[in-house]
Amino acid sequence: MSNCKVIALSNQKGGVGKTTTAVNLGVGLAKQGNKVLLIDADAQVNLTMALGYAKPDDIPVTLSTIMQDIMDDKSVGVQGAILHHNEGVGLLPSNIELSGLEVRLINAISRESVLKTGINQVKKNYDYVLIDFMPSLGMLTINALAAADSVVIPKQPHYLSAKGLELLLRSVSKVRR
Ligand SMILES: Nc1ncnc2c1ncn2[C@@H]1O[C@H](COP(=O)(O)OP(=O)(O)OP(=O)(O)O)[C@@H](O)[C@H]1O
Ligand SMILES: [Mg+2]
Repeated sequence: MSNCKVIALSNQKGGVGKTTTAVNLGVGLAKQGNKVLLIDADAQVNLTMALGYAKPDDIPVTLSTIMQDIMDDKSVGVQGAILHHNEGVGLLPSNIELSGLEVRLINAISRESVLKTGINQVKKNYDYVLIDFMPSLGMLTINALAAADSVVIPKQPHYLSAKGLELLLRSVSKVRR
C-alpha cells in the first residue's frame, strides 16, 4: 500500500493563501527529502504561474486533459503530464480549459472521483500530493476533497470567513459520508 498523503488546500473564500501555502509547503517538504507532487486544480492557474510557467495555454497536457480522458474512458498517462521543477517538486499544471471541465463533470459517471482516479495512478511515486483548489464549492472542489486524505484550510480571522468555514466543513463531512 502507498504511504502517500494527499492534502487538499481548500477554502471557497478567495485570496486567503491557498496557493502560497501549496508552493511553500510543497517546496519545504521536497527540501526535507520528500517526493512531492503539486496539482493545480484552479482555472486561475496561479500555482502553475507561481512555479514560473508564464504561458499555461501553451502547455499541451494539463489537469483538464487528464480528467477529460478519464471521463471518456481513454487510457491516461498522468506521470507523463507532470512537469519537473528545479525546486524538486512535480507539477500537474492547469490552464483555462479547466473552467469548461467543471460543467462537463456534472454529467460524468462517478463524477466525484474523476480526480481521485488520476491521482491513484501516480500516488505510489510520491510521499505527498498537494492540491491547490479554486475558491468555490463546485464539482472540482468536491473532486479534490474526495481525492484527499486531509484538508488544510487557510483563512482569515473574520466573521464572514468563519461563516464560510461552516459551509466548507459541511461539504467535507458530506464527502466523507
Ligand atoms: N501568510 C501570509 N501573510 C501575508 N500575505 C500572504 C500570506 N499568504 C499569502 N499572502 C498573500 O495573499 C495573497 C493571496 O494569496 P494566495 O494567492 O495564496 O491566495 P489563494 O487563497 O490561493 O487565492 P485564490 O482563492 O484566488 O486562489 C497573495 O498576494 C499572497 O502573497
Ligand atoms: Mg489560489
